Amino acid sequence: MTSNEPNGAAIGSIALVGAGPGDVDLLTLRAVERLRAADVILYDDLAGDALLSFARDDAELIAVGKRAGHPSPKQDELNRLMISYAKLGKRVVRIKAGDPAIFARADEEIGAARAAGVPIEIVPGITTATAAAAFLGTSLTKRVVARRLQMVTGHDIEGTLPSDLDLAALADAGATTCVFMGKATFPALAEKLIAQGLSRDTPTVVVESLGTPATQVIAGTLSGIAAQLAAEKPQGPCMILYGAALAGVGRDGAEPQTQR
Ligand SMILES: C[S@@+](CC[C@H](N)C(=O)[O-])C[C@H]1O[C@@H](n2cnc3c(N)ncnc32)[C@H](O)[C@@H]1O
Repeated sequence: MTSNEPNGAAIGSIALVGAGPGDVDLLTLRAVERLRAADVILYDDLAGDALLSFARDDAELIAVGKRAGHPSPKQDELNRLMISYAKLGKRVVRIKAGDPAIFARADEEIGAARAAGVPIEIVPGITTATAAAAFLGTSLTKRVVARRLQMVTGHDIEGTLPSDLDLAALADAGATTCVFMGKATFPALAEKLIAQGLSRDTPTVVVESLGTPATQVIAGTLSGIAAQLAAEKPQGPCMILYGAALAGVGRDGAEPQTQR
């Protein structure tokens, strides 16, 4: 998709493409279409390399590594890069792990592109939260038991537990909570949740490096998982799920589904 600037120069476009959890067969058809059509693809570590097999031979592939604890380009620089390529008439794809609309700073990219007059679209992907549930073979909602689903970040701008979390909501025993970017701060969060009245025995599951050969599952209780994460932080990205709907999930007798 290209359009014309008032002076007649063709401008390109930007697509924020959700890569899902990493398995290429969980990409949408639209995501594959955008990858095949792209002139420039910006990708990072959380989005698996297998996705790049859809790129044209002449597409420019730019690694913009983003992984917890490692330096990554500033968001402003990424925005400028995408916009400058689009202004050269290129179809730019920015690959995002999971869904671009969930904890992926898509709002900033959309704002910058619109301010620059560059067309931008979101191609949704399967968020790690629901992909983790599928991998575990469980539902995140359950009649009567879990009527509410919430997604929260465990990580503020400084990398610490956000101080303005709604702890009453997060300690709701009738909800399933999906914690993104929470492996470092989960012990602190769990302590607050227990102080707020959530049972320390609340079923809790950590899924690490979903969609890769290194996927690991740790299942236990809220206090037990918090203690494990305090003792040893997993290397890979982790999705942490807690709530009564997770009872028995990921433990003996409830084998996670095999990945393809
Ligand atoms: C910046 S957020 C991106 C979320 C993404 N947009 C989504 O919808 O899943 C990064 C966090 O997502 C989760 N995540 C992303 N990829 C993951 C994976 N392969 N396995 C487990 N968790 C993952 C982790 O909580 C990680 O810290």
